[in-house]
Amino acid sequence: MAEEMRIVLRNYGKIDPQKIDDYLAVGGYNSLNKARAMSNVDLINEIKASKLRGRGGAGFNCGMKLNFAYQAQADQKYVICNADEGEPGTYKDRIIMENDPHTVLEGMAICGYAIGATQGFIYCRGEYPSVAETLKQAIAQAKAKGVLGDFSIEVRLGAGAYVCGEESALIESIEGNRGEPRIRPPFPPVVGLWGKPTIVNNVETFANIPVILEKGSAWFAAIGAPSYPGTKVVTLTGDVNNKTFFEVPTDTTIKEVIFQFGGGIAAGKEFKAVQIGGTSGAFIPASQLDTQISFDAMVAIGAVLGSGAVFVLDASRDLVDVTARISKFFADESCGKCAPCREGTMRMHDLMNKINDGKGASADVALLGKLGRVMSYSCFCGLGQVAPAPVLSTIKHFSADYNAKLM
Ligand SMILES: Cc1cc2nc3c(=O)[nH]c(=O)nc-3n(C[C@H](O)[C@H](O)[C@H](O)COP(=O)(O)O)c2cc1C
Repeated sequence: MAEEMRIVLRNYGKIDPQKIDDYLAVGGYNSLNKARAMSNVDLINEIKASKLRGRGGAGFNCGMKLNFAYQAQADQKYVICNADEGEPGTYKDRIIMENDPHTVLEGMAICGYAIGATQGFIYCRGEYPSVAETLKQAIAQAKAKGVLGDFSIEVRLGAGAYVCGEESALIESIEGNRGEPRIRPPFPPVVGLWGKPTIVNNVETFANIPVILEKGSAWFAAIGAPSYPGTKVVTLTGDVNNKTFFEVPTDTTIKEVIFQFGGGIAAGKEFKAVQIGGTSGAFIPASQLDTQISFDAMVAIGAVLGSGAVFVLDASRDLVDVTARISKFFADESCGKCAPCREGTMRMHDLMNKINDGKGASADVALLGKLGRVMSYSCFCGLGQVAPAPVLSTIKHFSADYNAKLM
């Protein structure tokens, strides 16, 4: 039996998130003090040695990102916590911030020290007003106790655009501009917020850092899948018995997540498909359920781990209908900056609706496939590049659902 392992959620339910003294009593901010006693280079090397990779979707090596920002010369540098969490079905960052805000602040302050930044921002999803209050209260308490030293943190609220979770659009949004992605390179660790070196990391990524410093990089690197070590907080939704969250080692399989932790398919029905990583994730059939929920194992089957959202569908679900609804989400959320995404997401939605309404022909399915492939390499940012994933994966694995609706 696979077992839950709580690293980022280690204090969940054990401390009062509104009281910094509770966090201090369980060793909170000791890791920050430990970090400050190290040189920047030693600290970055320790985080690098842990092989911690981003938990927000792109899976980039956290220590390498820190090193880029450390090497960059500038009079100011910034640390941004990406708490936009706009991915439908994902609520892991909310759970972390609501229940243990100081872990996130401590992780940010450690990274601030590592790169030489004195200012941090938490870009919090606008639909999370109570989380923003919890964070502000935690920041005020940390300031009053003096635990953050010269590192300041501000909370900024998003205004509901999905694209603002993309790190360069997020930076534009903090600067007060329209949320649209920037051309990269240069990447944010070199040219970021207000043109200064900036690291952007996900809430869950930051929450791992104090524990890595406390227990050591070797301890962390030995947990779960070797190329993406540690744990993943997964949020289960859809036709599954336990619609809740779990933190599991990254070598846990999708099957274990759904059938063991999730308690299996609701109402005694059969499994049909699972979408992992949020709305932009591929739909995975039963034959691939033995895949581990690690970044590389998911890529190997043409899927993504993404945010770790697990959306389960039972055998009664019509995947054409589900995918048509998802395509509307992308048509609505495209920021419109580049033509392949602006036009492509709308055309994709039109074609999906046509097929879903029983008015499509096999040529429309072929056109969808071609459109999806072109979008995946021609769109300016990740939004448009991954928008076709649900369409392409359902055409590949669930063609019977399409065939049943064709004229
Ligand atoms: C359309 C889009 C939305 C995104 N939304 C989020 C988000 O809500 N939270 C997040 O952490 N990363 C999100 N990302 C990924 C970020 O661009 C970036 O890779 C991440 O914040 C880096 O942090 P990490 O290395 O800790 O994962 C999104 C990317 C795209 C393309």
